[in-house]
Amino acid sequence: MPPDTVTIILPTYREADSLPDTLDALSALRDADLPEAQVIIVDDDSQDGTEALIEERGEDWVRLIVRREDRGLSSAVLHGLEEATGDVLVIMDADGSHPASVIPAMVKALSEGADFVVGSRYVPGGSTEDGWGVLRWLNSKAATLMARVFTRVRDPMSGFLGLRRATWERAVDLDPIGYKIGLELIVKCGCKSVAEVPIGFRTRRHGQSKLTLKVQWEYLLHCIRLYRYTHPSHVSFFTFAAVGASGVAIYLAALMLWTAVIPAQRIAIALAVLTAMSWNFTWDRRWAFWYARRQSLLVQYLGFIAVCSVGAIATWAVTMWLSAAHGIPWAGLVGASVGSAVGITFNFLVSRYLVFKR
Ligand code: GDD
Ligand code: MN
Repeated sequence: MPPDTVTIILPTYREADSLPDTLDALSALRDADLPEAQVIIVDDDSQDGTEALIEERGEDWVRLIVRREDRGLSSAVLHGLEEATGDVLVIMDADGSHPASVIPAMVKALSEGADFVVGSRYVPGGSTEDGWGVLRWLNSKAATLMARVFTRVRDPMSGFLGLRRATWERAVDLDPIGYKIGLELIVKCGCKSVAEVPIGFRTRRHGQSKLTLKVQWEYLLHCIRLYRYTHPSHVSFFTFAAVGASGVAIYLAALMLWTAVIPAQRIAIALAVLTAMSWNFTWDRRWAFWYARRQSLLVQYLGFIAVCSVGAIATWAVTMWLSAAHGIPWAGLVGASVGSAVGITFNFLVSRYLVFKR
């Protein structure tokens, strides 16, 4: 069997200063272990001399793709993966943070049966160069913890990745957002055995990191999407409970408002119940049962009101009953608690299976 061919994908944005060293390192790799290796640079129209540099170097194993419309690290990586022809696909940063010298070890791990391999800072032999502030370190730890649900890999945040083409081809529903294309691939390609090859992560020498606050926000959204993908009913239930809790606060506020403007207590309380139910409906529909978008809004709304009516009536009755002796906010709080206790499991199950059908 001929040896595997390798395509190395380098996403770049303003890396003209770093690229010479990175390409030199890859060239050395070709001279030694991987003579067949090809490189695809996916640049997002950096306009910093990247194009001239690649032309000048004239290496026939380096292909530059400049994207003029699309932007973003993950989508650049996906673009590179689509264009790659090798049996093994490697993704690495172009800024010198990732040592090219470990690529043969990554290829070896894949040929020994791993589904996926990451260059890892957190296995024995791996390291991070000094210069990472406490904040970035803490950030990285928190982000890693959030990824625990999907994989036990010790460095799931790594951007130094390797996988077989066959693995990439079985990816379903790729949804590139933010930075963590590695996590996305591990989950969506259904990778079971992820190997970690230790790397010394070097601080970039030129230019600056593009890891901004926006990137961190996108990571949060990305994790939510992945949780929905891997644990849909947990996400539904916990979101439903959280929305329910917020609904209690809305109920109390609505009670004060409606009882202040409407003299008839019965009606004011009923309106407050309806206000809170509508609030819950809006957020449950959007967040807890995000997938049930095909049915008509009106049918869902009426169904939701019907389902929640048992808890709603309990809330109304207890609030009415206590309001004379204890005043509105307290009566409302007890009423909503009783209503929620009555409703939570029943409302959730019926909403999930009858109102917000998949
Ligand atoms: N095409 C393209 N488009 N490339 C991009 C973009 C983009 O929008 N944003 C960043 N890149 C390229 C950079 O040019 C670099 O080659 C690589 O992606 C990594 O970007 P950096 O900005 O250097 O990221 P970092 O050093 O903060 O983060 C690295 O370490 C993290 C772990 O601490 C990356 O490897 C992350 O993936 C990794 O999670
Ligand atoms: Mn970097």
